[in-house]
Amino acid sequence: MRILALESSCDEFAGAVVEDGRRVLSSVVASQVDLHGRYGGVVPELAGREHLRSLVPVLQATLEQAGQRWEGIDAVAVTQGPGLGGSLLVGINAAKALAWARGLPCLPVHHIEGHLYANWLEAALEAHGGEPPSFPLVCLVVSGGHTELLLMHGHGQFERLGQTLDDAAGEAFDKVGRLLGLPFPGGPAVERAAQEAVAGAAAAAGKALPRAWLAGSDNFSFSGIKTAVLNRVRDDLGGNLSAADVAALAYAFQESMVDVLSRKTADAALAQGAREVIVAGGVAANGALRRALAERCSVPLRVPPAALCTDNAAMIGGAAYYKAQGEIEEGNWDLFSTSGAAVFSAGGR
Ligand code: KG4
Ligand code: ZN
Repeated sequence: MRILALESSCDEFAGAVVEDGRRVLSSVVASQVDLHGRYGGVVPELAGREHLRSLVPVLQATLEQAGQRWEGIDAVAVTQGPGLGGSLLVGINAAKALAWARGLPCLPVHHIEGHLYANWLEAALEAHGGEPPSFPLVCLVVSGGHTELLLMHGHGQFERLGQTLDDAAGEAFDKVGRLLGLPFPGGPAVERAAQEAVAGAAAAAGKALPRAWLAGSDNFSFSGIKTAVLNRVRDDLGGNLSAADVAALAYAFQESMVDVLSRKTADAALAQGAREVIVAGGVAANGALRRALAERCSVPLRVPPAALCTDNAAMIGGAAYYKAQGEIEEGNWDLFSTSGAAVFSAGGR
């Protein structure tokens, strides 16, 4: 079964053709980093308008790279939410129109469910002998809008163990990136800056930054560490940051985030008797997080290749396949949401 998938929840407009939930025949991502970079963050109104520009070229490239014509497509899938309203509308309306015109089913996919299903795509399975993940598994979701620990019992069956009480992990990376004067988006920039840190100085700075363990729960809190970085920048350094200060603070901040995320995930996997741990979302591209999780988890760990961690449409096409097989029950869409449930219904034809 070949699914053409669209993803437009934030500042990327992406298309993909995915076969049987695994094989990615094409994956095209139109990024808007340059557009939003000059404002230091995503401007929702601009994102939606830019998606309208990207729509046709991305769609054409998606079919071309897959070597497919519409006759070879069995269904259309689209990110239903959560995300920016104006951005989601572009992808959802395009998917509905395409499905209606071609007489195909239109499959709505929850954005976070899509992120998780990146772990079932061929490129992610390669490192595991082609074998799909085994249930039950613990999922760590770390994106710009979400940070959650979930217990996944089977396809489409999720139980939330915990979530952030304030900022998402990616949001904390982005905000700290701004505080340190790094370019947008903050996550990759903080990781690069941390690599420049001199170990001794960075370790000293690291001790000074807090970790909110929230012992006895699977919840997270990242607003305190963000404030701690702000205080260091303002009070200790007087706002004047040398390149070495930026590197040391980036390192210390990343250490703190990674320490909490990896330990709490490893603990949850043990407590739940999970057979594996899977990680999803943009922050899963972070090398330090990947290394710490691999070190600490006592069960096998799966993290998709970096290009499948950040927003893309292949993951949406992957998740939609299981939905089409009826393996994913119509779930409680609010499960993943910290910022509003399913905003729009992609509906049928
Ligand atoms: O999943 P994603 O592409 O979009 C959302 O659904 O939010 O995640 C984007 C987030 C941003 O906050 C970005 O800074 C973060 O993922 N991110 C990273 C890295 N790459 C992307 N954070 C830390 N290290 C990275 N290498
Ligand atoms: Zn995402």
